[in-house]
Amino acid sequence: MLEIRNLDVRYGGIHAVQGVNISIRRGSIVTLVGANGAGKSSIIRSIAGLNKTVSGDILFTRNEGEAPMSLMGHKPEDMVRHGISLSPEGRRILPHLTVEENLRLGAYIRSDREGIREDLEKVYDLFPRLRERLWQKGGTLSGGEQQMLAVGRALMSRPTMVMLDEPSLGLAPLLVQEIFRIIRRINEIGMTVLLVEQNAYAALNVAHYAYILEVGRVVLEGPGQELLENPKVKEAYLGG
Ligand SMILES: Nc1ncnc2c1ncn2[C@@H]1O[C@H](COP(=O)(O)OP(=O)(O)O)[C@@H](O)[C@H]1O
Ligand SMILES: [Mg+2]
Repeated sequence: MLEIRNLDVRYGGIHAVQGVNISIRRGSIVTLVGANGAGKSSIIRSIAGLNKTVSGDILFTRNEGEAPMSLMGHKPEDMVRHGISLSPEGRRILPHLTVEENLRLGAYIRSDREGIREDLEKVYDLFPRLRERLWQKGGTLSGGEQQMLAVGRALMSRPTMVMLDEPSLGLAPLLVQEIFRIIRRINEIGMTVLLVEQNAYAALNVAHYAYILEVGRVVLEGPGQELLENPKVKEAYLGG
């Protein structure tokens, strides 16, 4: 459903992404794993149309059987219309709006009130903690709850593909487990997931396919379970 070909991202003198090829199958969970600064967010931001300094190609096929369209140079506003949504790194929720208002923002391009209502229910089913706090201001939520709100908001546009940039960052171990259980669930209900993580163990465990990035390049790829068994991965990313 998404083919990234020979992607390059530069910021002035920094060559952040160097000739990366990534393929994402419809219905799968694909993860990009790598240390801080490896280029993971830059790749996601390129798909989202948030990076200008890119070359290569990003081909997206929204529905099976359709001709692929290039996402190179498209505007971030187009992304949601194409059926892609992003939960950005670092819980970018609006602190002065309530939980429900934040979620409704994720549906801003939609006008089907019934459908939005249904999807709010789905998000509350996935995240019971958000249902309990729907009137609470976003800024008064705990870090973990804000993270969940950001993920929930990304689901409100009814995307076919959702991109999650470090959803487990800074969460307590129990919440990390919960967020990964929810990622699996999001995939089971039909969404393709592109997951960026520093928590290599949890990400490889949940992913059908994974790419390991080091300083802007893919150094290893394969099914998540296979990479979990790979001695190099064990040594470098799973603490030996
Ligand atoms: N807006 C920017 N301006 C300049 N350099 C940037 C910018 N964004 C990212 N970088 C640099 O690009 C590299 C990759 O960053 P990033 O994609 O955020 O990595 P990751 O998400 O894997 O931590 C890093 O060296 C980072 O400092
Ligand atoms: Mg990042």
